[in-house]
Amino acid sequence: MEAFLILWFLIGVVLFLIATCELYTLKTGVPTVTSLPSIRKKMVAILKKEEARRGAQRPLTILDLGSGTGKLTLEIGRALPAAHVTGLEISITPFLISKIRRWLWRILWRVTNVDYKREDFWLYDLSSVDVVVLYINGAIRDRMAEKLKKELPSGALIISNETHLPNWEPIKTQSAGLLKLKIVTYRQKR
Ligand SMILES: C[S@@+](CC[C@H](N)C(=O)[O-])C[C@H]1O[C@@H](n2cnc3c(N)ncnc32)[C@H](O)[C@@H]1O
Repeated sequence: MEAFLILWFLIGVVLFLIATCELYTLKTGVPTVTSLPSIRKKMVAILKKEEARRGAQRPLTILDLGSGTGKLTLEIGRALPAAHVTGLEISITPFLISKIRRWLWRILWRVTNVDYKREDFWLYDLSSVDVVVLYINGAIRDRMAEKLKKELPSGALIISNETHLPNWEPIKTQSAGLLKLKIVTYRQKR
């Protein structure tokens, strides 16, 4: 009987977390979907190049606007141990998963340079960020393009999975994997 109650409790918790995730998707217009491995690999390569380009003046600050369950940010943190990586995520379920995942990666791979904040990225100040990584959809791209233009410092890099940003001139568009998905990079000029 006790085991039965525990099982129902666990099912309840899982259903609650799934429902919360769906509610946040409705609220933000952006679902929690992880960038594909080929995209993540290419993003890491672009970031390594950027780190080499800037030299070792100070650690690179990298921000994932909507970090989902944390896979991308942890892979970035592992590949670039000198960088500071922050993931912003508003939806509670993926945010909790990213925290658990970070704890595991700390033990398994000694990744200690990744932080997660449960914050709304629209309210986050981007003025001291070196690189933004993005995987958003068309519903919010106009607003996002404007925010990035207004707040990012000169020279900051944007790496966008698929979405083109209106009123930004790409410095490079690359394709990744068999599906030839696009990664678009932009640099802030002032
Ligand atoms: C498509 S996922 C991308 C996950 C990860 N960046 C990647 O590429 O694998 C986008 C995430 O942005 C989050 N999001 C949407 N609006 C947000 C907001 N205003 N503030 C913070 N996170 C937000 C969603 O909850 C979702 O998990």
